[in-house]
Amino acid sequence: MIDRFGAYADEAAFYSPAILENEELAQYLIDNGFFTAPASANHHGNYAGGLFDHSLNVFNRLNTLTKQCGLKWQRQDSPFIVGMFHDLCKIDQYKLVQEPTRCILDPLGCGDPVDIPGKTHYEYNNDILLTGHGEKSIILLSKFLTLTDEEILCIRYHMGAYQTDEWNQFDAAIRKYPNVLYTHMADMLASKIDEG
Ligand SMILES: [Fe+2]
Ligand SMILES: [Fe+2]
Repeated sequence: MIDRFGAYADEAAFYSPAILENEELAQYLIDNGFFTAPASANHHGNYAGGLFDHSLNVFNRLNTLTKQCGLKWQRQDSPFIVGMFHDLCKIDQYKLVQEPTRCILDPLGCGDPVDIPGKTHYEYNNDILLTGHGEKSIILLSKFLTLTDEEILCIRYHMGAYQTDEWNQFDAAIRKYPNVLYTHMADMLASKIDEG
C-alpha cells in the first residue's frame, strides 16, 4: 500500500507501518474502490481518485498540525488513521453515470448523422446499504482496526460546525479530545484551501 502515498510515503510509514502492512484492509480498499472513488458528486474531489487525494491531503494537514502545534495523540498511528479514513463512508457513496450517445445530423447537412459519445458524471448512489457519515466511516473501519476513543470522536465529528444539530456533542468531544477540533480544521484546510 505504501507505494500509493507518493511524496508522503515516508510520513505514512513513520505513522503507521502496521496499518500499511494490514493486507486485509489493503485488499478491502482496493476491492471496493477507495483509490478510484470520487470525494463528491458536485463539490471538491468530484473525479476518479478524488477520495484518496482528499484523504491524503487531510492526513498531510493533520501531520503538519501535529508537528507544528505539538499535538499529542493516544497512539502514534492516529493522524494517519484519522486523516486517511475519516471519509471512508464515501467509498460506495457515488456512482459513475454514463450519459447516452447522441446522434446529430452533420452540421453542414451533407453527410451521414454523427454519433456524439455521452459524457460521464457522478451521482449520489441510492443503493448503498449503510448510511451516515463519520459514524459510517467508524463502522467500516472497525472491521479491520480497533480504534481508540480519540480516533472514534475525531472521525465522528470531523464535519464540525457543519453538523449544527450536534453542536453540544461536538463541543463536548473537543473538550475531551482537542484533536477533534484539529481534525475538523485539517478537513477544512484540505477541502477549502488545498482543493478549493
Ligand atoms: Fe467528511
Ligand atoms: Fe473529509
